[in-house]
Amino acid sequence: MTEQERLIEKTISFSKQYFAEESSGHDWFHTERVYRMALKIAMQEGADCNLVGVAALLHDVDDRKISPNTAETKSNTVRFLTQQQCSEAWIQKVVTIIDEVSFRGTDSVIPSTIEGKCVQDADRLDAIGAIGIARAFAFGGNHHRQMHNPDEAPTMGMDAETYYSASGTTINHFYEKLLLLKDMMNTRTAQEIAENRDAYMRNFLNQFFGEWNANK
Ligand code: ADP
Ligand code: NI
Repeated sequence: MTEQERLIEKTISFSKQYFAEESSGHDWFHTERVYRMALKIAMQEGADCNLVGVAALLHDVDDRKISPNTAETKSNTVRFLTQQQCSEAWIQKVVTIIDEVSFRGTDSVIPSTIEGKCVQDADRLDAIGAIGIARAFAFGGNHHRQMHNPDEAPTMGMDAETYYSASGTTINHFYEKLLLLKDMMNTRTAQEIAENRDAYMRNFLNQFFGEWNANK
């Protein structure tokens, strides 16, 4: 086993254990899907697979929803990688990728490196399509949100602060975030996958409203 393979193995174990008790749509399987997809994109885009793999595996361990105290410093990531004897400069690369990954409404950023673009695209692909629909309703149920309320319009153009404090219906989340992601993909590889997943979501919404209005 090469040193890189060993680091990946260790990071998989660390992340798996970290998420063992998380069930809010941020579980190990989300991370595993992001990891696999990020590597697939990285391979096609010619990015550094080792960096992409480790960043994908750690992208949610300092997430503001799961670990608000470390979201700023990314100390779960830094502590783990320091224990693995990674260099400070390399750890900083991983931290930057993780810092740039998340959706922040109009304050979302385009990652500064191709590796960051791969991880952000993979994370966003997991928020759309059939899995995206399932995760959105799982999140909504977990937060006791209404599924849909025809009297509540979506809030468009939210900045980071407004987006973080939003508590609207799950259907509105599609208009506030999920349907915007297709046009926010960084790589050609992800854009193509997103087309199919986005069409599936639009089809779902069409059926949903058809049923809601007794038309289908
Ligand atoms: P990610 O891990 O992809 O960065 P988030 O932390 O924003 O995503 O959210 C985790 C999952 O929960 C995603 O699938 C996201 O779309 C969903 N989610 C986030 N906010 C809401 C919401 N207000 N209503 C429904 N689903 C949500
Ligand atoms: Ni994620």
